[in-house]
Order: sequence, then structure tokens, then C-alpha cells
Amino acid sequence: MKPNEIYAELNHLLLEPGVQELYQTVEAAFKAQDAIAHNWEHVRRDIVNSVEIGLQEGADMGIVIPAIILHDIGYVTHPHEPEQHPINGSRECCRFLDAWTPEQRTLISSCILKHKGKFPGFEHSEPETLEEKVVCDADQVDKFGWIGFIQVVKVFVEHGTKGHDLYKTFPGMAGALTRRKSIMLYTETGKHLAAKRREPDFMDISEKLTRELYLYEEWKEPF
Ligand SMILES: [Fe+2]
Ligand SMILES: [Fe+2]
Repeated sequence: MKPNEIYAELNHLLLEPGVQELYQTVEAAFKAQDAIAHNWEHVRRDIVNSVEIGLQEGADMGIVIPAIILHDIGYVTHPHEPEQHPINGSRECCRFLDAWTPEQRTLISSCILKHKGKFPGFEHSEPETLEEKVVCDADQVDKFGWIGFIQVVKVFVEHGTKGHDLYKTFPGMAGALTRRKSIMLYTETGKHLAAKRREPDFMDISEKLTRELYLYEEWKEPF
């Protein structure tokens, strides 16, 4: 889809009853938190991805749009439990969804729970419905390309400053870059969008980073 087609479809969807209010409420919540990586800038990119993927896959956008707006709300409600954010988000989302039916809330909550797919450390359960797959892919596409590379660095800063030791070091970063190869995409459109973002080569960066670090990592203090 061309950018103008995406914008027209997206803006039409955002003017649906309840959606505009949800968008603005969640935007304000993210901006009040002011996270480095899992911020409104990231959610906004995922919303755009979800329109391109969801429309081309024929998904129910009445579920996809609220789900993608809320997919990382767990970071806002429980900022010190990043690994639990799909679970926390799936529990907390309903209080933002007064304008949706109980059945719709269940479907949206399930999209949030499964939005990490098979990403290492988050194997809660894989997306099954088309809407769950679209929400997952819209989020995973943000991990590819130059945006994806910079986002990895930003995630390390975000988690590192919260005291997660793995995220504070260069070897930790080199290891994290290799995790990209285990990302599972579930829709043809998601696979296509990710394939367009071939650069940079995360494995190559990881190897070169590890090589540069060798001198410093092999040194042991004599005491
Ligand atoms: Fe997430
Ligand atoms: Fe996300």
C-alpha cells in the first residue's frame, strides 16, 4: 500500500466511535510515562503497520485497532515488569474498553496476550486468530531494519536503567541482536514488510561487535 492509502484508511478507522477517545487516552498515558523505547512513538509505528497488514489480510479492524493501540499498555501499568507486559496488558486493557462489548474485549485482550508470538522469553501462547496474528506481526515488523536496530539499543537503555543487568552490557547487546533470527511472522503481508527491511544485518553486527569486545572481555584483573 502507498503511504497516502494507509493514512486515509487509518484516519477513517480512528474516527470510529470510541476509537478516537481510546487513542487519545492511551497516547496521554504513554506520554506521561515517557519511556525510552516502549513509548508512544513505537505504538504509533505499530498502528501504521497494523493497518497495512490488517487490511491486506482481511482482518477485523474493529478488533485490530484497539488491540494494537493497547498492545504495550502493560509497560504503562507495570513499568518494572517488562517481561510480564503481555499478561499485565491483557488484564488491564478492559478498563480502557467501555465502548466495546464483552466479546470484543475478550478478543482484544487475547491479541494483547499473544502479541510477542514466539519471541524468546515471551512464549505465553502463539497467535491463532487472524486478528492476533496481525497484531503480533505489526509489532514484530518494528524489530526489522534500521528502526529495529535502533529500537534494540533503546530497549537496552530502557530496561538497563530499570536495573535489569543483562541490558547494561555490550556482550548482552551482542547476544540480543542474534535473537532477531528467532522472530516468527504469521502473515504473508508481515513477512513481506519484514523482508523489505533487509538492512542492517543483525548477525553481522553481533559478530563484529563480539570481535571488537574480545580484547576487553578476556582481560581479568589480577585480584
Ligand atoms: Fe510488547
Ligand atoms: Fe510493542
